[in-house]
Amino acid sequence: MKLILLGPPGAGKGTQCKRIIEKYGMEHLSSGDILRAERAEDTELGQKAQSYMDSGQLVPDDIIIGMMIKAMTKSSGGYVLDGFPRTTVQGEELDKALAAEGEKINAIVNLEVDDEVIMPRMTGRRSCPKCGAVYHIENLKPRVEGVCDNGCGELVQRPDDTLEVVSNRLKVYHEQTSAVVGYYKDSGSLIININADQPIEEVTASIFAELDKLNVQVG
Ligand code: AP5
Repeated sequence: MKLILLGPPGAGKGTQCKRIIEKYGMEHLSSGDILRAERAEDTELGQKAQSYMDSGQLVPDDIIIGMMIKAMTKSSGGYVLDGFPRTTVQGEELDKALAAEGEKINAIVNLEVDDEVIMPRMTGRRSCPKCGAVYHIENLKPRVEGVCDNGCGELVQRPDDTLEVVSNRLKVYHEQTSAVVGYYKDSGSLIININADQPIEEVTASIFAELDKLNVQVG
């Protein structure tokens, strides 16, 4: 099963993907996480992406498409794409690459949440730079304040989680990414709309209820 998780920054894509892969055993392919790993290793790709990410702009399509298709090719079974595709061009290229293998995306889970809910989620987010675990200073606290539950060490605030950059990311989402839902609607794909303005556990339960109907399994 191949899924896409769509939604604005802070909708809870990363949080929910971790729960989906735990339950259904698929792989989590997050474009944001892959880009941050490239930056941490100071690769050429990471250097190219840095200024776009820090200002809340999208990294150019040609960089992202190649990077994500490489990650998908390495994956041996089902996966959830998180943060990709983010433009209709990315969606078209993804579909072409899958069609060449005789495959397709089975469903799109679209997390819906209003902009005013997002800002406190983003500015309160704390992440583990080592294992990628995500917390929130109020909604999802680690056992010890400021420290990752997985024993990795100190949590950090992402540089793109400031008020100014989040505002820009939301603007970019409305201008360039929200159209991706329309792209998949027009192509007749299965779109599962989820109200993401509920507590984390309730969002998870809504997603699981829908995915259970699809009989989601690895591969
Ligand atoms: P990326 O890392 O993908 O960022 P994003 O899409 O903006 O999404 P986030 O990771 O910020 O949010 P999320 O929806 O995963 O929310 P989370 O679960 O963490 O991309 C970063 C940058 O990389 C982009 O700006 C761009 O530059 C570049 N990039 C990446 N992909 C690209 C692409 N395809 N094309 C071009 N450029 C690309 O939750 C957020 C917080 O809220 C957490 O603290 C969490 O605990 C809390 N929370 C979650 N759910 C709830 C809830 N229901 N109630 C209360 N709190 C909640």
